[in-house]
Amino acid sequence: MAGEFGTQFMPQMSICHFDGGWSKEELVSSDSLSMHPGAHVLHYASTCFEGLKAFRQADGSVAIFRMDKNIERFAQSSRLLYLPEIDTEQLSRMITSSVAHFRDQVPDAPASLYIRPTHIGTEPAIGKAAAPTGTSSLYILLSPVGDYFSGGEASLRLLLDDQGVRCGSDHGMVKGGGNYASALKHIERAKVSVNADQVLFCPGGDVQETGAANFILIDGDEIITKSLDESFLHGITRESILTLAREKGLTVSERELSIAELIERSATPGCEAGLTGTAAVVAAVGTLIHDGVEYPVGTGLPGPKIRAMRDELNSIQWGQTPDTRQWLTVV
Ligand SMILES: Cc1ncc(COP(=O)(O)O)c(C=O)c1O
Repeated sequence: MAGEFGTQFMPQMSICHFDGGWSKEELVSSDSLSMHPGAHVLHYASTCFEGLKAFRQADGSVAIFRMDKNIERFAQSSRLLYLPEIDTEQLSRMITSSVAHFRDQVPDAPASLYIRPTHIGTEPAIGKAAAPTGTSSLYILLSPVGDYFSGGEASLRLLLDDQGVRCGSDHGMVKGGGNYASALKHIERAKVSVNADQVLFCPGGDVQETGAANFILIDGDEIITKSLDESFLHGITRESILTLAREKGLTVSERELSIAELIERSATPGCEAGLTGTAAVVAAVGTLIHDGVEYPVGTGLPGPKIRAMRDELNSIQWGQTPDTRQWLTVV
C-alpha cells in the first residue's frame, strides 16, 4: 500500500453535530471540514480521538477489533475534556455503518482499515479559555493502512526520560490532542540527541509509556508493566495482551518498574521488551538509552516472545483462530 500510515482516506466520513442535542449522522465528503476560525478546538484544544481497526477475516467478512472498549475510552476522554457527552449507541452505529459502506475496500491481511473517531469543540467563542465548548462535531475518518512491518522487523531505540513529562500527570488517560502536542518536544529532541525512535517517559524514575504506545517487559514467565492510573493511556492492546498472557498461565505483574530495575533486568539473557498499540500490536525494543549509556535488551534483536504475542493477537484479529472472547464485531 502506497503512502505513509494515516495519509490515505476513504472519500466519505460519517459525521454528526451537537448543539443542545445530537443531530442525525450523515455521510459527507472527508476532504474538508468547515468551521469558524474562532472554534474552541482551534484555541483551547477541546479535541479527543480514538484509533481502532477493521480487519478482513479469513472467511472474507470484515470485523472490527474491540470496538466497545474504544467507544468507552472515547466517551471517557470526551467527559474529561468537558466536551458534550457522546451518544455511544449512535457512535457505534456510525462506526459499523461507515465501515460497512466501504466493506469492499478493506484491504486483506496483513493490511487493515484504521478507524479514527474524532470529537472537536466547535463553538466560536474565543473568550471561553476557561470554559467548555457548547457545541461540537464528531466524525469517523477511515484510512486503509499497510503492514506495519513491511520494511522488516527492526528493534526500537528508546530514550528513558526521567525529566520530561508527556502530559499533565492527571491527564494521561485522556486520548486528547493536547497530550500529543506536549510530548512532541521531548520526542524530537531525543531523535536529534541520541537517534532514539521514541521516548519512554519515566516521571520520577517510574517507567510509564511512550508518546504513542504502552511498554511491557518480559523476563522469563513474567510480564511487567505499569499498573493503571490516571497518568497514562490505558491501551486496549496492552489489556488484550495481558488477558492472553494470563490465560496461558504467565505471571502478569502490573506494578511500578523503576529505571534501575528495568536496566538491570534487561541484561538478563532472553529478556524482551515491547511497545504495545493498535498500529503494530507489539513492536520489539532493542536498546534503552539512559544518561548517555546504551543498554541492549536481551540480545538487542527482536525476540521470539514478542513475535509470538503479536502472531497470537493478529490471528484473532484476522479470524484465523476463533473469537472466544467476543472481541470482534462483524460488519
Ligand atoms: C499515548 C499512547 N499510549 C498507548 C497507546 C496504545 O493504546 P491502544 O493499545 O489502545 O492502541 C496509544 C495509542 O495507540 C497512545 O497514543
